[in-house]
Amino acid sequence: MKVPVALGARSYDVRIEPGLFAQAGALLAPYARGGRLVVVTDENVWAAQGAAFTAGLGDIAAVPIVLAPGEASKSWVGLSALVDRLLALEVERTDHVVAFGGGVIGDLAGFAAAILKRGCGFVQVPTSLLAQVDSSVGGKTGINAGAGKNLVGAFHQPALVLIDPACLATLPARELRAGYAEVVKYGLIGDPGFFAWCEANGAALLAGDLAARTHAIARSVAAKAAIVADDETETSGRRALLNLGHTFGHALEAETGFSSRLLHGEAVALGMVLAFRFSAARGLCPPDEAERVAAHLASAGLPTRLADAGIAADGARLAAHMRHDKKAAAGRVPFILARGIGAAFVDRDVDLADVAAFLDEAR
Ligand code: GLY
Repeated sequence: MKVPVALGARSYDVRIEPGLFAQAGALLAPYARGGRLVVVTDENVWAAQGAAFTAGLGDIAAVPIVLAPGEASKSWVGLSALVDRLLALEVERTDHVVAFGGGVIGDLAGFAAAILKRGCGFVQVPTSLLAQVDSSVGGKTGINAGAGKNLVGAFHQPALVLIDPACLATLPARELRAGYAEVVKYGLIGDPGFFAWCEANGAALLAGDLAARTHAIARSVAAKAAIVADDETETSGRRALLNLGHTFGHALEAETGFSSRLLHGEAVALGMVLAFRFSAARGLCPPDEAERVAAHLASAGLPTRLADAGIAADGARLAAHMRHDKKAAAGRVPFILARGIGAAFVDRDVDLADVAAFLDEAR
């Protein structure tokens, strides 16, 4: 199936279908100048899925740039090395680089494409659930800086996104669960019917049900495409809703040193539960809705209490991490709160002292 992302001259399609890699040659032929495609990927993804992808490319010659896996390549040093390799391969402005991997590869290759010769094209082929339902769609690209994650980047939309849900079969279970948090997020933001679908089908999805995975990806991408089409650069506020759970989550990731102790999706899961419980504590949201959110995420094996993530820091310390959130404006950090499941909203007037007191209670 095809989900359009409507952005005027920069519109593109997200193609979602099990077995799509087998059609990669036909779908990517328009982007393969001289029958060649430069593919940026990492060692794990290339070992697990590279053969299936290149077989599908048929006559197109893939020139892989295989990076070490992990967040370290999403750095100035990693960017510089990647740009040098793209230049050495004589990638031109009208060419398209393929980002074949998870969020790190998509963000890094997308940003390299954004700046190479003042911008060349790129195609996203996301291979993790998190990248399929979130980071590959919407054009956010970038790298980490010494002062924090994703602090350097650009909006640069891909020309096409190809999602083969079958490739999730080789994704480690923990990463699958972490990506699932971002699926649930779409139900929590604005679609209570989809949250109910997640409650009924999440276990099957996590266990490997391909139809459930495909449905969840398609619904998530459609929700994200609608938001991005409405607010591409996060200026009107609607795109900010996609940050549900991220302000709390960012503090948790900072506290755990952005390490594998707490994956981004795990931090988002716990962050969403905290956002709902905080909303309930402020009388905005029925407490039983917050507990329904927590129960579902816990059933998916995701952390829903600070102790689950091994976090013992007090509220003031966690709130201090939030002050450095890149979305802070005029000293205020915008929070995504909720009036219930499917009813998220942006609150730009939250006092961090209230958040700190709430977190102390939550410990
Ligand atoms: N991941 C949030 C966004 O794309 O806006």
